Amino acid sequence: MEHKVSDAEFYKIFSILSVIIIVLAIFIAILSNVFAGYSSSGEDNYKSELQSLTDQRTQPSGRTNLASNPSVKQAQKPVVVASKKLSGQEVYNAACMSCHASGAAGAPMTGNKDQWSERVSKGKDTLYASAINGIGVMPAKGGISTLSDDEVKSAVDYLISEIN
Ligand code: HEC
Repeated sequence: MEHKVSDAEFYKIFSILSVIIIVLAIFIAILSNVFAGYSSSGEDNYKSELQSLTDQRTQPSGRTNLASNPSVKQAQKPVVVASKKLSGQEVYNAACMSCHASGAAGAPMTGNKDQWSERVSKGKDTLYASAINGIGVMPAKGGISTLSDDEVKSAVDYLISEIN
């Protein structure tokens, strides 16, 4: 006896089959995406890393943060404040005034005889040495290490000349 599939049964089987086919299609799509991702992204990653390393190395030097790369630290040149020799007053204005004009950090104030007389009595050479090497809170050369010793000395001379 022939089994007669009813319409209802047919639709049921048909819809179950369609769902399975759709799910399978989605599954295959996902799988192929995953594998496509694997094969190309590995190479892409490699290429983009290579590119960024190349970019880093070929950047104009001004845009490269050399300070963050220990291997190029030695190549870093100190910024030269000025190539021509500065006068005592110029050095003072640029490097010393910030503390000595106001007495900041306990610095002996420019032109203040009381605060300078005892120091001056130690002799110029001692004052030169203190200014060049730093003393107490005062950093060497007032923190501007690119100044030459002579420039610092001339600033000390200027400071002394300002004492009335
Ligand atoms: C960050 C602040 C600061 C700057 C910048 C600075 N000084 Fe001073 N300076 C001081 C302080 C503080 C003292 C006193 C230190 C002490 O006696 O302990 C001092 C002391 C001195 C003395 C007396 C040293 C002694 O033996 O008694 C001289 C000279 C001097 N400074 C020169 C300079 C010159 C020149 C510059 C610029 C190149 C300069 N200072 C920049 C803070 C500064």
